Amino acid sequence: MAGPGGSGAGGRGVVISDNWPGYSLDLFTYPQHYYGDLEYVLIPHGIIVDRTERLAKDIVQDIGDNDIVVLCVLKGGYKFCADLVEHIKNLSRNSERFISMKVDFVRLKSYHNDQSMQDMQIMGGDDLSKLTGKDIVGTGRTMKVLLNTIEKYKPKMIKVASLLVKRTSRPDGYRPDYYGFEIPDLFVVGYALDYNEHFRDLNHICVINDHGKAKYRV
Ligand code: IMP
Ligand code: MG
Repeated sequence: MAGPGGSGAGGRGVVISDNWPGYSLDLFTYPQHYYGDLEYVLIPHGIIVDRTERLAKDIVQDIGDNDIVVLCVLKGGYKFCADLVEHIKNLSRNSERFISMKVDFVRLKSYHNDQSMQDMQIMGGDDLSKLTGKDIVGTGRTMKVLLNTIEKYKPKMIKVASLLVKRTSRPDGYRPDYYGFEIPDLFVVGYALDYNEHFRDLNHICVINDHGKAKYRV
């Protein structure tokens, strides 16, 4: 199987199966204001960071002698993007070939409660080329809208990195060039992913429970 960016063993990333029960919240620490709002830990923070380190290595290998512009998709992608950039910097600093990197940001908004909305807003971003960093691909609709916009700038190369890809039943599901984890079709929060702007301050990626959904519903 071809890996992310053609780099071999990666395949579908770390695959989290539908029957994965997750980790008990009691095994980890998390903010007290979310006690009672979560079901379980889907991916602990440490594993997220370790997997991101490997994605950085794959990206650096594939990018060749090109400079990169990292386009971070806010707000949900800010943690992943920051960690990915840190790892790329570390790799670059410790190798013969220094990778020049610029960072830019766009903001997209499409979700209301846990439902993907029809209208999409894109805000910001001045220098769009070569690489994008993103939090999660759910239906893939958001990513397609963004890519259509970026392609107008005719960058030399566009690569999409997403921490998570959901196993949705949609046949038109978008697949990024690099991704960390393939997860069940669940609504997840934490590591900058939100539910109506809450839970971004949670380190682990968790599944929210009915109590949490009701408490923060808008
Ligand atoms: P898509 O258009 O369905 O692919 O949704 C993509 C965007 O919706 C992501 O960039 C996230 O910001 C948000 N999103 C999708 N699924 C989730 C989720 O499970 N938790 C939090 N945000 C999500
Ligand atoms: Mg959101």
